[in-house]
Amino acid sequence: MNRLRGKVAIVTGGATGIGEAIVKKFAKEGAKVVVNGFPEDPVMDVVNEITSGGYDAIGFMGDVSEEGNAMACVQFAVETYGKLDILINNAGVFPVMEMIENYPTKAFEYMMKNNVRTAFLMTKYAIPELQKTKGCIISAGSEAGKIGLGENAVYGGTKGFIHSFTRGIAVEQAKYGIRANCVCPGAIDTAWTHKETGPMKKKHETMIVEGTPLGRRGTPEEIANAYLFLASDEASYITGTLMMVDGGITIGKGAIGKEAEKDTKREPSGELLLRHKKEGATDMLRGEDGNV
Ligand SMILES: NC(=O)c1ccc[n+]([C@@H]2O[C@H](COP(=O)([O-])OP(=O)(O)OC[C@H]3O[C@@H](n4cnc5c(N)ncnc54)[C@H](O)[C@@H]3O)[C@@H](O)[C@H]2O)c1
Repeated sequence: MNRLRGKVAIVTGGATGIGEAIVKKFAKEGAKVVVNGFPEDPVMDVVNEITSGGYDAIGFMGDVSEEGNAMACVQFAVETYGKLDILINNAGVFPVMEMIENYPTKAFEYMMKNNVRTAFLMTKYAIPELQKTKGCIISAGSEAGKIGLGENAVYGGTKGFIHSFTRGIAVEQAKYGIRANCVCPGAIDTAWTHKETGPMKKKHETMIVEGTPLGRRGTPEEIANAYLFLASDEASYITGTLMMVDGGITIGKGAIGKEAEKDTKREPSGELLLRHKKEGATDMLRGEDGNV
């Protein structure tokens, strides 16, 4: 408890999946949290759950790949809470699994907009405020940005951008006391990795689970725990790191997850109630009307 007491955080894409776990974890740890999402995301449901539990959060609905919305989101945090200590670039989309020769150009552009442009704009407008607080930025990387993801080379490419962008920011902003890091999840139990709720087919689900030495998906809360550590003062000497939180999938070879024992394959229950973890952005309809 209270590892983020007095800190003000913005979490983009904070109403579903991993983002929902981050905002709930951060609020429990004493942060004041600005929950951002598209207007059609369950932003206010999440905010209301947090505030009814006696914690502090406020919603900012808007597509932060739009320059005006990114600027307004940072202003809103500062006007509401007086400062900004932590920016979490978590927003992202995962609409298609397809070989490159058939990959829709529209999906490429949709991912550049929501996975890359969001992080660039939010970082650009948050930096002046983070310089005042010696704050930090943590962005959503991915094992797919390290090793490549077949049938979604484009998604992996957007995460490769996030990795090196983060490292560039870490180097140039270190003199102001700003830290910048990535959390790089493996396959996480959100809408994206289930055939019923996302673009993965059965064969992809089998591949990601069997390819993970721990033999299962990670939970959104397991990822939020890594964000919490990197956002906390315990990580005060860590900058420019790509923290793999991937059950070993990046280092595993072959179907090694099949060997995991039954108990190992069981997801930990965690402490958070996550109502919206399967309502993520897995088609290209989300954010069509993205203004505040
Ligand atoms: N789920 C996984 O297996 C996995 C693995 C590695 C990395 N990640 C990364 O973690 C992050 C969260 O993924 P998730 O699985 O929780 O997915 P998710 O779809 O549940 O969460 C992403 C959220 O971002 C929002 N969003 C997207 N673009 C936005 C924009 N322009 N403005 C405002 N909100 C926007 C979406 O509406 C959605 O609520 C992503 O960046 C993803 O790349 C996920």
